Amino acid sequence: MCGGPFHFSGGQVPLLLRFREHWVRPALFFGNNPISLAGGAVTTASGVTMIGYWLIELLGRSNDNPYLGIIFFLILPALFLLGLALIPVGVFLRRKALQKAGQIPAEFPKVDFNDRVFRHGVDIVMVATIVNLMVVSVATYRGAAYMDSPQFCGQSCHVMNPEYTAYRISAHSHVACTECHIGSGVESYFAAKVNGTKQLIEVSTHSFASMAKFVPDYPTPIPSPVRNLRPAREICEACHTPAKFVGEKLLVKSNFADDEQNTQTQDVVVLHLGGQDSLSHLTGIHGVHLGHIEYVATDETRTSIPWVQRRNADGSETVFAASSLKGANPPAGERRVMDCIDCHNRASHTFMTAEDALNRAMADGSISPTLPWVHKEGLALLKADYSSQADAAVKIPAQLEAFYRSGNPQVLATKADLVKHASQKLVALYSENVFPDMKVTWGTHPNHIGHMSYPGCFRCHDGDHSTKDGTVITQDCTACHNLLAVDESKPKVLADLGIQ
Ligand code: HEC
Ligand code: HEC
Ligand code: HEC
Ligand code: HEC
Ligand code: HEC
Repeated sequence: MCGGPFHFSGGQVPLLLRFREHWVRPALFFGNNPISLAGGAVTTASGVTMIGYWLIELLGRSNDNPYLGIIFFLILPALFLLGLALIPVGVFLRRKALQKAGQIPAEFPKVDFNDRVFRHGVDIVMVATIVNLMVVSVATYRGAAYMDSPQFCGQSCHVMNPEYTAYRISAHSHVACTECHIGSGVESYFAAKVNGTKQLIEVSTHSFASMAKFVPDYPTPIPSPVRNLRPAREICEACHTPAKFVGEKLLVKSNFADDEQNTQTQDVVVLHLGGQDSLSHLTGIHGVHLGHIEYVATDETRTSIPWVQRRNADGSETVFAASSLKGANPPAGERRVMDCIDCHNRASHTFMTAEDALNRAMADGSISPTLPWVHKEGLALLKADYSSQADAAVKIPAQLEAFYRSGNPQVLATKADLVKHASQKLVALYSENVFPDMKVTWGTHPNHIGHMSYPGCFRCHDGDHSTKDGTVITQDCTACHNLLAVDESKPKVLADLGIQ
């Protein structure tokens, strides 16, 4: 045997030698085939592209377009791995083909570490392997993080557009979707990913499914409540502490009338929110429901609740049944212990009613109440049928302008700016709440807080749920709030409080 740095006598370093004889030589021999070479090329190309993107990101030039995310965090890493997988596949196929033809050489072409070119080749392979391992681990990490980001959950999938839009303008716009919908624990993580993948498949097959009716299609609108991604009480309580709920909450709401002056009236309400006080007494809206009230809902949206049961301090149970229900036995349906989302079912995805949306915009001045008839006309424009959000964005401004041009041309002459602002705001309100392609429109997702637009609290507090001895779940207005003013113009109480 000849000398040199890589040449030892067999007895000294048999491992290295055996590695060279049994692995390096055959690998080089079999690896020299089109499939393995193509695999190497795919891996190198996608790896270099990803590294380039990461460098651009490090320089702060990134762009949160969700489709770029899909390419860089999901598709390229997949190509990268595919390329890596092709290399052994090519080796295997070539070996099989040669074996069949009886062409496997008894001895593979010599691997000579004295050959500088060959030695550098081996160095490159080793460095490439280390780089590949690094790329795979960074890509896996980035891909997982990306799949948890609101961009991925809400934006890359147009099906979630209504929920994502509402989320972006909610108090929770900085809370990741996964904080509420997945929570902690490996089990819930995988449950969510499996469900997400099913939805991805449903969405990708949607166009096909509409032609051929046998592929599972995604539902429009996305059904609510979400059975397998339901936020639970612990999830909200990771950030909101019930012990801090204690107190009253002042609520001021403005309503505008359908007359020329858009006459404004206000409701001033003090809600007995309560909670757990320093003596651990449970009081008020937050105090009395959590943990000890159970119900059965007989419809999908949990609006119809004919059976309610309270667990009392002494461990006994009291059943309140709707008069439609004969007897106190629970009917068939979904049985639940009341938690946060039985009232806050639209937390972070609040879709307003057209009336509420418009009243709010007029109260904050973004639609000026000084424009004659703007409440009546605005409401009609918001509630009209449009084929898409883009359609609404064209028609609403055109029709508002036409309305003033034909009826009150002097408004356009003196308040053109206010009219323009009003149109823009109406279009914004429409596109925050109505999504024709997802069949989400005014009222699709009822909000269970309150009782004015939807049954809400009155699902149970309707004066019709009673025990055998005739005690009803209260509908007394003062149990939930003090009504300081209802539909008053310029309520005195607001002036007294120094609010207006
Ligand atoms: C603060 C908590 C919270 C956050 C953050 C949150 N959601 Fe939700 N989401 C909810 C609640 C509560 C429901 C209603 C669940 C129920 O009634 O069972 C819901 C329902 C949904 C639904 C079902 C359809 C519907 O409108 O009810 C979808 C889809 C959804 N969320 C997607 C998202 C996406 C996408 C994000 C991130 C962009 C997100 N959510 C962030 C709390 C949250
Ligand atoms: C990761 C933390 C986090 C989680 C989880 C969370 N919230 Fe919040 N929540 C916040 C923050 C932050 C605010 C904004 C506070 C502010 O703006 O003053 C907020 C505000 C709110 C508000 C008042 C504003 C509004 O939208 O009416 C409600 C109600 C609320 N959260 C309910 C919930 C419910 C119900 C859940 C569980 C489904 C939940 N939150 C989960 C952090 C969280
Ligand atoms: C029985 C119905 C009900 C239940 C159950 C309920 N809430 Fe509320 N919550 C309300 C009402 C009503 C308000 C006041 C609504 C408003 O501000 O318009 C409120 C307000 C809040 C606010 C805002 C407080 C503020 O100062 O503005 C937070 C945060 C909140 N709830 C969190 C929770 C969490 C977390 C849970 C579960 C542990 C929960 N709620 C359970 C009815 C409920
Ligand atoms: C699933 C049924 C259900 C829903 C929905 C519900 N409640 Fe209740 N609520 C009850 C029951 C049951 C009681 C206990 C009745 C009793 O003790 O006589 C109760 C008690 C109360 C009390 C205490 C009443 C008293 O006299 O001390 C308040 C306040 C209250 N609820 C407010 C609300 C508000 C506000 C909402 C809506 C945001 C709401 N509830 C939604 C079932 C419900
Ligand atoms: C079970 C609790 C409960 C009872 C009983 C109740 N309310 Fe309310 N009410 C609420 C809640 C919660 C809100 C706040 C809704 C919100 O946050 O938007 C509210 C809001 C209001 C408002 C403000 C306007 C609005 O659009 O929200 C008025 C007015 C009102 N209630 C009138 C009444 C009257 C009148 C009665 C008696 C017949 C009554 N309520 C009984 C829970 C109750």
